[in-house]
Amino acid sequence: MDILSCAKAFVLIAFLTRNVHSDDYFRMGVNSNAAEAMQFLREYDREASGMCYRVTISQWRFVTNITEYNRRRMLEELAISSKFERLSWRKAAAFDYSRLPDAQSRRQLLKIIQSSRAALPDDKFTEIQQLITEMKEIYNSAKICPYGQKPYDPHVPRPEPNQYPNTYQNQYQLNQPFQHYQQQENVEYSNYCDMQLDPEISRILAHSRIESELLYVWKSFREQTGPKLKSRFVKYVQLANEAAVATGYRDAGEQMRAPYEDSSFRASVEEIYNQVVPLYKQLFTYVRRRLLQRYGETTVRSDGPIPAHLLGNMWAQNWKSIMDLVMPFPQAPNVDVTAEMLRQGFTPLRMFQMAEEFYTSLGLRPAPPEFWRNSMLARPSERSAQCTASAWDFCNRIDYRIKQCTEVTMQDLISTHHEMAHIQYYLQYAEQPQLFRDGANPAFHEAVANAASLSVYNLPHLQRIGLYHNKSHDPYEVSMNFMMSMALEKVAYLPFAFMVDQWRWSIFEDGVQGMNNRWWQMKLRFQGVIPPMPRNEEDFDPGSKYHVVSDQEYIKYFLATILEFQIFEQLCLVSGHKGHLHECDFYRSRDAGRVLSEIMQSGSSKPASDIIRTMTKGKTNRISPESLVRYFRPLELWLRVQNRDEQLIGWSSNYHDVALFAPQRGSGCVAHLSLWLTAALVLLY
Ligand SMILES: *[C@@H]1O[C@H](CO)[C@@H](O)[C@H](O)[C@H]1NC(C)=O
Ligand SMILES: *[C@@H]1O[C@H](CO)[C@@H](O)[C@H](O)[C@H]1NC(C)=O
Ligand SMILES: [Zn+2]
Repeated sequence: MDILSCAKAFVLIAFLTRNVHSDDYFRMGVNSNAAEAMQFLREYDREASGMCYRVTISQWRFVTNITEYNRRRMLEELAISSKFERLSWRKAAAFDYSRLPDAQSRRQLLKIIQSSRAALPDDKFTEIQQLITEMKEIYNSAKICPYGQKPYDPHVPRPEPNQYPNTYQNQYQLNQPFQHYQQQENVEYSNYCDMQLDPEISRILAHSRIESELLYVWKSFREQTGPKLKSRFVKYVQLANEAAVATGYRDAGEQMRAPYEDSSFRASVEEIYNQVVPLYKQLFTYVRRRLLQRYGETTVRSDGPIPAHLLGNMWAQNWKSIMDLVMPFPQAPNVDVTAEMLRQGFTPLRMFQMAEEFYTSLGLRPAPPEFWRNSMLARPSERSAQCTASAWDFCNRIDYRIKQCTEVTMQDLISTHHEMAHIQYYLQYAEQPQLFRDGANPAFHEAVANAASLSVYNLPHLQRIGLYHNKSHDPYEVSMNFMMSMALEKVAYLPFAFMVDQWRWSIFEDGVQGMNNRWWQMKLRFQGVIPPMPRNEEDFDPGSKYHVVSDQEYIKYFLATILEFQIFEQLCLVSGHKGHLHECDFYRSRDAGRVLSEIMQSGSSKPASDIIRTMTKGKTNRISPESLVRYFRPLELWLRVQNRDEQLIGWSSNYHDVALFAPQRGSGCVAHLSLWLTAALVLLY
């Protein structure tokens, strides 16, 4: 729906649903006094900024200094802010905004209304928030025993409790699926049953090559999450749908898609997915061959889907960790300038200064003094803090900070540039009203930050800043190794990032029956992975993904990964780059800086389609995967050669694959027939 028809629909439905709830505490959409509405928006801007500041500072204090006192203070602020949200929503919904004279004010009013669940009655509004909080806490407290260990003895105390692991994640960047590098802590595997996803379990999946150990952690983490979350998730689905309907949407999926302002959004996204499938299948086929060589034919079938535990990651979403198994040219190096950084005596501060200089070299803004005064750029020694890298906007146009336990590594150098891009985005849209201080759509912040990182993490740039010196290695081989590591991170991620919300939308739309079966059907169809062991409806494998149970939409990560290459290519074009896209560095290009600044300055005051049209000088107003495909073209050619003897590019699923997760009702013939049908459907797609 476009904004206007959405507005009309909302007014209509608001009236229809008015009497559904007995509490008649507000009247929706009847106040046509434009002056009053404008006055409300002015007040809202001031109050919402103030509220945002209070919440953000309390969250900052907690995550950078984890104490019970700080946790309580934060929860108090969150409760106050939730009251404010409900109150503002009621006031906003009382206006008939079709009477508002200017489009920007209508847009602001709609933003207040659209994204909230405040249309729910008080008790249900509280209940859904409570459910989400509980689900996050259950997820974050999931722990498993080490592989091959005796049953857990609860009487043995754990030496060093980690009370609040990654629980409160609201700002950009917390718990991101890519480009947010975890610190390499020296973890000792203890005998206690206290292995958490991060870092212990993730590290085993990344580094262990023992199939039974991989299977063990894959299975155990799912046992400790899914079943405990399922009933709460079902209730959450019901309430989220109720809220959506009361706000004027068909279901919660439609409400989540609304910020994209695209009436054919689902079709657009599917089209993008289809355009990257050929590249994905080439990568998939090559990786499957290498896994088959490593784990053997009993584990990996030569034309089949890949078992989900072998790809170096809990969700098979980022395959970077199996680079050792799939490196195109093992005799050439994998690009890593960490040693050189150490040799040159880099410090975290110097890394941040370097990142700042990257943006000022484009003619963009330096970080303000408050940034340098208040940020947490290294792990604090005297207190406990959450270390996930994140960039913060304190909503007062003054205070911007980064929290990152920076280590002197190449990964952190890239992460530093990435986080500084978020800060730059905040600075660029600072003059917008609070409601527009955001990316043009939910994909933009990540896309811009990653587009900038693509200019940093490439050989010409690393050479330019004196960190990489090509020695005697064949440049083609080095470059193929580099592209493979990028593909394992970006291309492998796309089908996963696509399927998560396909599944979620289908749950909101069609109900909660067969949730786990549908999850695996989509995993198989889009990603080509199967569970390494039988699953059924007592399992709830979507619950092993944080963003599912914490109510965070996911399609933005799919779109951000596509859009980052599209933005990157535009910046390369205006900077005058010639040659391969993966070798483009727009460092010091004022023209690239101007384009970036144009993208960022309007915040979310305009639809994303307007911004893309400006960025591409009128060529298109849509997100397109052409740049991504172009970027990986040299690798794709190499992969085609590697795959020339394969029977099948991609995967075909058989009866046994589908039997791993499809319900086996009845027996004999009927059950078999239905499985064959499912297998055939998956194949046909
Ligand atoms: C951490 O928080 C506590 C309150 O729980 C406070 O007393 C202390 O000063 C804080 N430490 C730092 C370094 O900010
Ligand atoms: C080193 O890099 C330069 C410039 O990129 C290139 O011309 C040269 O061929 C490279 N040398 C080797 C040995 O790869
Ligand atoms: Zn980010």
